Amino acid sequence: MLIEPLGFEAALRRAQGAVSEAAREAFGVPASMAQAELSEAMLYALEGGKALRAFLVYESARLHEQSEHSAREAALAVECIHAYSLIHDDLPCMDDDDLRRGKPTVHKKWNEHTAVLAGDALQAKGFELLASEDLPNAMKLLHGMAVASGHNGMVGGQMMDIAAETSAAPLSLDEIKAVQRGKTGALIRWSATAGPVMAWADCAGLETYGDRLGLAFQIADDILDVEGDVEVTGKAVGKDAGAGKATFVSLLGLDAAKRQAKDLVEEACEALSIYQDDAECLREAARFVISRRK
Ligand code: IPE
Ligand code: IPE
Ligand code: MG
Ligand code: MG
Ligand code: MG
Repeated sequence: MLIEPLGFEAALRRAQGAVSEAAREAFGVPASMAQAELSEAMLYALEGGKALRAFLVYESARLHEQSEHSAREAALAVECIHAYSLIHDDLPCMDDDDLRRGKPTVHKKWNEHTAVLAGDALQAKGFELLASEDLPNAMKLLHGMAVASGHNGMVGGQMMDIAAETSAAPLSLDEIKAVQRGKTGALIRWSATAGPVMAWADCAGLETYGDRLGLAFQIADDILDVEGDVEVTGKAVGKDAGAGKATFVSLLGLDAAKRQAKDLVEEACEALSIYQDDAECLREAARFVISRRK
């Protein structure tokens, strides 16, 4: 079954619903009480987010005429890896946060060992899903995810993010971009290119779109840390400056950061020209990324 074109909000809701439903199937029947608790923590961490990465997988798959089944598997995979990154990001040894998506973080609701292990298990589940025989070009999806989530991708970016907290000199703009392309951009780029990868097609347009979107997304996240309201964001605000985080906002100030994010969104939209009007939903997503309040 091919993926039906929808407006942005409906498409985002579809991605959220698909991820929840697919997760309930994929996490299986636990063999013990302890495993049931682990599955519960995994599901808890997976649900309640925007599912933007899942949405990107769906849209890029739709533009390349991939089946809804393939999109669902790949969308759940990236949301599993994303959820794992958030559980670990919130741990006391990292950002030490108690609130995520309006709920206690996993280590607060359970404990640290459950948070570490639920993150580990979500990571493994993401790769297990991509190793499915019925996913087109699964090997490239898998390899791409290993690179995007590993030491030169998300994990590498997280390492640089934490290292910057205590670095003697402030990071340069290029260094901050490298942090953001790693910790946030890599999974967003993987999601935006999943469609052409599955279709064995040229990824260039969506690769550029994902790159600019990833940077804009993290700038918006950093702006929300300054201007956001905890009741809306569902996570702590006003912590980055005190923690010494290196962000566009810390280096350039709010106004210049907002201008950068806007320019990046324009570049993201321009990169979609080969898809013409069919990519309107992705353009809406790019505008949403910098206007969102959570
Ligand atoms: C938060 O990601 C972490 C960053 C990469 C900035 P999202 O803002 O996509 O979080 P959820 O999944 O919607 O909660
Ligand atoms: C998190 O960045 C990026 C990853 C989890 C990989 P942040 O630390 O800024 O994300 P929030 O603000 O906690 O969601
Ligand atoms: Mg962090
Ligand atoms: Mg954090
Ligand atoms: Mg943040």
